[in-house]
Amino acid sequence: MKALVYRGPGLKGLEDRPKPQIEAPGDALVKIVKTTICGTDLHILKGDVPSCAPGRVLGHEAVGVIDSVGDGVTAFRPGDRVLVSCISSCGKCDYCRRGMYSHCASGGWILGNQIDGTQAEYVRTPHADTSLYHVPEGADEEALVMLSDILPTGFECGVLNGKVSPGATVAIVGAGPIGLAALLTAQFYAPAEIIMIDLDDNRLGIARQFGATQTINSGDGKAAETVKALTGGRGADTVIEAVGIPATFELCQDLVAAGGIIANIGVHGHKVDLHLERLWSQNIAITTRLVDTVTTPMLLKTVQAKKLDPTRLITHRFRLDQILEAYDTFARAAATQALKVIISA
Ligand SMILES: NC(=O)c1ccc[n+]([C@@H]2O[C@H](COP(=O)([O-])OP(=O)(O)OC[C@H]3O[C@@H](n4cnc5c(N)ncnc54)[C@H](O)[C@@H]3O)[C@@H](O)[C@H]2O)c1
Ligand SMILES: [Zn+2]
Ligand SMILES: [Zn+2]
Repeated sequence: MKALVYRGPGLKGLEDRPKPQIEAPGDALVKIVKTTICGTDLHILKGDVPSCAPGRVLGHEAVGVIDSVGDGVTAFRPGDRVLVSCISSCGKCDYCRRGMYSHCASGGWILGNQIDGTQAEYVRTPHADTSLYHVPEGADEEALVMLSDILPTGFECGVLNGKVSPGATVAIVGAGPIGLAALLTAQFYAPAEIIMIDLDDNRLGIARQFGATQTINSGDGKAAETVKALTGGRGADTVIEAVGIPATFELCQDLVAAGGIIANIGVHGHKVDLHLERLWSQNIAITTRLVDTVTTPMLLKTVQAKKLDPTRLITHRFRLDQILEAYDTFARAAATQALKVIISA
């Protein structure tokens, strides 16, 4: 089969690989129908994610069809259409019983990281019964690809951890797919203001269409002053970091109001300064989270009920044999105006 393989920092290629096999009773083999590329895949390619070794098939988001299942799988049968979660969970270990699937003792974020991922014709998914979801009858499968990772990530790591609440002021740094997913799902809670900050005016324009009340291009280095001016000097109650570099985490520390929360989503490859000399007295909290995907069933219902339309995040479509072009388009988003790219296998 064809597969997109990480070959070490800065290097990737489309290779011929053997079709994966069932290895454990809980496995399913899924034939990929649609997959996509995540900002995290770009972090892997930058060398920011040491757990992902060269030789790995990338990708942790997909919708597909069950090809075959191990003896222990009871919830899925060959031919079933499924949503693949970016997080694999056994459902039985201490962390899974606490709903913290991201730290499952035999799962977590392993797809496209510690085991071969979804940017291929087939993927082996461990713990299939508790890591796959049935695609509802009549569902838009491209919309569901947005539920593998980005919607639960924006919602759980950003909106829930950041305790977005009615009437609150929210600032989101980073208007990529993840920041935009946080913007869409923050609106479940009716905050008064949602301020989006990015360097890319096209993405900021999309953020306004998606419900941002203010947008700031931080290229002039004055984003913190602007947010202070917009909030009567207070700052934002919830500040969501959706980039993953030191400069943006530091900006979040300048934006947070007294009593507020900085909810980090970004995957960071470098250490960041923490300004406790200023923040110690500000009653703030900082949260970090690897997405657990515990909210996937709930988000699936909001999509089916048309309360949320994730297809708005899709800008480009490619075939699997064009995936190098898809990566190039996604990585040069400022020039190509890409958000999520759908890859059809
Ligand atoms: N915590 C998790 O479980 C989890 C899951 C998925 C993704 N992520 C991470 O979330 C982050 C966002 O993902 P994405 O797919 O939206 O990525 P992306 O690269 O598409 O978007 C990042 C955005 O940040 C903007 N940006 C870059 N430098 C900036 C700066 N100095 N100031 C303001 N804006 C700046 C870019 O213009 C871009 O719009 C990544 O770090 C990704 O790895 C985390
Ligand atoms: Zn991801
Ligand atoms: Zn577990």
